[in-house]
Amino acid sequence: MNLPNMLNAKIRGKEEVKILYDDYNIFNIDNIGKDKKYLVLTYGCQMNVHDSEYISGIMDDLGYTKINDLEKADVIIINTCAIRENAHNKVEGMLGRIKHLKEEKKDIVVIFCGCMAQEEGLVNKIKDYKWIDIICGTHNYHKIPEYLDKYYKEKKNIREVFSIEGNIYENIPVDRDSKYVAWVNIQYGCDKFCTYCIVPYTRGKQRSRRPEDIINEIRELYNNGYQEVTLLGQNVNAYGKDLDINYDFATLLVEASQIGIPRIRFMTSHPWDFTDEMIEVISKCDNIMPYIHLPIQSGSNRILKLMGRKYTVEEYLDLVKKIKNKIKNVSITTDIIVGFPGENDDDFEKTLDVVNKVKYDLAYTFIFSPREGTPASRMKDDTPFSEKKERLARLNELINKYALESNKKMKDKIVDVLIISESDKDNKYMGYTENMKLVNVDCGSECLGKIVPVKITSVKTWSLDGVVCDRK
Ligand code: 5AD
Ligand code: SF4
Repeated sequence: MNLPNMLNAKIRGKEEVKILYDDYNIFNIDNIGKDKKYLVLTYGCQMNVHDSEYISGIMDDLGYTKINDLEKADVIIINTCAIRENAHNKVEGMLGRIKHLKEEKKDIVVIFCGCMAQEEGLVNKIKDYKWIDIICGTHNYHKIPEYLDKYYKEKKNIREVFSIEGNIYENIPVDRDSKYVAWVNIQYGCDKFCTYCIVPYTRGKQRSRRPEDIINEIRELYNNGYQEVTLLGQNVNAYGKDLDINYDFATLLVEASQIGIPRIRFMTSHPWDFTDEMIEVISKCDNIMPYIHLPIQSGSNRILKLMGRKYTVEEYLDLVKKIKNKIKNVSITTDIIVGFPGENDDDFEKTLDVVNKVKYDLAYTFIFSPREGTPASRMKDDTPFSEKKERLARLNELINKYALESNKKMKDKIVDVLIISESDKDNKYMGYTENMKLVNVDCGSECLGKIVPVKITSVKTWSLDGVVCDRK
């Protein structure tokens, strides 16, 4: 049994990152999934969503058939998220349902993987749940074929979670959710250790993929008809810092842009590593989209320091100013945590001040959630939860006001929208503008997967409505 260890996960030594091009195939047991069905339940961020696309690729490769019906699955894979307590709660709710199902259908194989599996305290609790057949972490889901094979043969629980710095696997098959827009990992892990955050423990050290592997992947996607890629990493701006060649995120953006794919996005940006050169490149390349997700977390320098964010509000606002001055029609969104330990009314007012200054297009707001093993979870926190909830409500009200204001500017404009799927609203289709506004579009199915001109007819806080029209 190999279990996670928070202390080991924290130590960033000199362990060399291996890039493994063929390790996956060693464990590939052909066709053990013949006539069997699987379902992947995904919780959490884009990184997890994309990991699930790889897990699906592996399962397809083994001969399993993907389905959406929990009751009919032979293998249930739960790809979990650890970022906040409510992510835990959602997973725990689902575990209750699956346990019940397993009592009725003993043959189902239950696999628990992802970020929660990297948490020492949690795994120590669930390792004894006999009905969870396989537990594996973020560093070893590529070994699922081996685990399944072993499980079918021995019918014994498997628990293997590594607390390692992490390697890079290049040849895992992928079953993407969309035919038009794709996630492309450019970097894994995080070395920033913001004091509230579990990610550096669950995902290992920052390690960048080789530029040629990323560029080849984007080229292949483009050749296969994809219209958009989103370059993914915890800190995309720090891309390349760990490579042994002189190559950074700005260089990667230029090379990616030259491939000719119509749209390139990236997330998440860390204010600390955002260079003038990156802003210049984004402003000059037409196919790099004017949308930047730039988490601030707090508007108080005192709290930012406690969070270990390593920038000041003034530096952040300077960066926003440069971005807005240089990049035409840019949208800026952010993440904000309220109720960090020690945050007082004055600190919170400062966060509202920043929101009033930046006027974000959208923001994701959270109440601080103590994560076991992180420094912030040990900090004194005497703000009552009810007060934190009031702060969150006030913040959301302000965020919504600016979101609506920003959307109102789009009214009657003609904008390019990439239509990506049907919408649940009135049989319409949905897509995104260049600056990442969600639009429900009145159009026919022939528009799917295409970038079409859309006239915005009405606006709401979270979305726009529009009709396809002639080009401007
Ligand atoms: N509590 C609340 N929010 C958190 N985030 C990360 N860790 C925590 C936590 N412990 C938020 C941050 C981050 C986003 C992905 O989740 O705002 O940017
Ligand atoms: Fe977490 Fe900070 Fe790394 Fe983002 S930069 S993943 S918030 S530690």
